[in-house]
Amino acid sequence: MISENLKTFLSDEVMAKAPVSEPERQRYFIERLKGFYSAEGGAGLKSCIVTFGCQMNARDSEKLDGILSTIGFKPEEDEQSADIVLFNTCTIRENANEHLYGRLGRLKQVKRSDPDRIIGICGCMMQEADEIETIKKKYPYVDIIFGTHNFHTFPELLFKLLRKREGIMDPIPYEGSGLVADSSEDALRQEKLLRYGSGKKELDKLNRKPIVSVWTDSSNIVEELPSRRKFPFKQGINIMFGCNNFCSYCIVPYVRGREKSRRPEDIYEEIKRSAAEGVKEIMLLGQNVNSYDGGIRFPELLKNIDGITKGSGIERIRFMTSHPKDLSDELIDVMAGGERICRQFHLPMQSGSDAILKRMNRHYDKHAFMEKADKLKSAMPDISLSTDIIVGFPGETERDFEDTLDVVRYVRFDAAYTFIYSKRNGTPAASYTDQVDEALVKDRFDRLLELQNGIAHENLSRLTGTTGRVLFESISEYDDSLITGKLDSGVTVHAKGDISMIGEIHDVRLLECRGFYYIGEVIE
Ligand code: 5AD
Ligand code: SF4
Repeated sequence: MISENLKTFLSDEVMAKAPVSEPERQRYFIERLKGFYSAEGGAGLKSCIVTFGCQMNARDSEKLDGILSTIGFKPEEDEQSADIVLFNTCTIRENANEHLYGRLGRLKQVKRSDPDRIIGICGCMMQEADEIETIKKKYPYVDIIFGTHNFHTFPELLFKLLRKREGIMDPIPYEGSGLVADSSEDALRQEKLLRYGSGKKELDKLNRKPIVSVWTDSSNIVEELPSRRKFPFKQGINIMFGCNNFCSYCIVPYVRGREKSRRPEDIYEEIKRSAAEGVKEIMLLGQNVNSYDGGIRFPELLKNIDGITKGSGIERIRFMTSHPKDLSDELIDVMAGGERICRQFHLPMQSGSDAILKRMNRHYDKHAFMEKADKLKSAMPDISLSTDIIVGFPGETERDFEDTLDVVRYVRFDAAYTFIYSKRNGTPAASYTDQVDEALVKDRFDRLLELQNGIAHENLSRLTGTTGRVLFESISEYDDSLITGKLDSGVTVHAKGDISMIGEIHDVRLLECRGFYYIGEVIE
């Protein structure tokens, strides 16, 4: 129970004054929460955000972190000792889901000994109704559940959670068709319990039920909420959200919704602000940046961004991810002529077999993919190419797999992210009956890895003795006399140096290739 004075921060009057439009509404709740926690004497409040999955999630987590830091929480690495823990989840493959449940299980004891701690879960996995049900049943100590389309409403949900703990029920923010928004049921139950006089225990239990608010989609992009960068010198910039491609194995279009592009002016503004704050490297983010459509298309957007960053302090521009079917000559030209655009391209092939690519709904074949890779290489001979490959897609035969190996040998990728096919409920491929035998898949996976590792090592070792520009990001995990950074191509380099060089770009001679990274020497 909190004091009467603190309760005034959570009153109906405060609630009623909240603006209707965004982002003003969430800013309002951030300010009210700040008032509440500082009146509570919360100087030592700690928050921990655990992020699973891709760069998109990493960026969303920075925004959640920005909200929490504005409210007054300090970052804490250890989820066991934070006052609020948020899990930003991924659901691209089954093992991502299992990972979350393992971590949640370990918090049970902590929550039992300190029930006032707050545990929240958001991100892609929460867009699946089954997963929400599992959490409500098996992990009832979770307090807040929200999804990808309404993660900006987190301040409001946190405010409502604090109210609920005091027995005040609220309707949940709701846009279009909410997948789950169950607080009205709770309100009815509360009314009955109060009217017919039930034990305090029942009411307490009700007040401790999670706040669940998951939207199925959203037409708006909410701009201008705070964010706290994980690295002060590099930043992901969302240019679009969602995906319209519906590759037959992929759950992303279902959990991230349809494509929505940000307005170019909003993107430029964010980039200028980041530059003024000392950012050196930006990564433009979208599930499929090649279908960006904010009035202008991606090549023009990229060219403009290269232009506006001149002299701004931003020295590197990256982007991800590109669908091969939409990779245009115009984009290759912009890249080749760019001044700050890194010569790195992630071109996910998924498979080299025409038949499998067709069943995957990828809209290109083996030949077209190799042609795109050739074009990139002939326009920029120094380009670093990476890819994603799925092994064991339903119906994949040995011949299909040989086609994948063929493309790998032909293109000679600098890096490949290889995945064993994972069946995702709700996707078309989940209903394909010709799933490949597990042992066979494992054998193919190992063969692919062996081939690709050899190629990556050969490609990389060619750089020995050359000089490259490295943005240093951290002290080495293994040896604290070394600092670790990345070349333009994304390759990791360790070199002697000190903490003052972190966030700076230096010329580094590449001395020794060790597998997938280099040991280098700073020369300037
Ligand atoms: N199984 C295995 N890998 C997948 N990916 C997406 N969905 C699945 C799945 N169901 C991989 C693709 C994609 C990357 C981000 O994850 O290769 O490019
Ligand atoms: Fe998934 Fe295909 Fe969209 Fe990539 S392009 S997110 S693989 S549906």
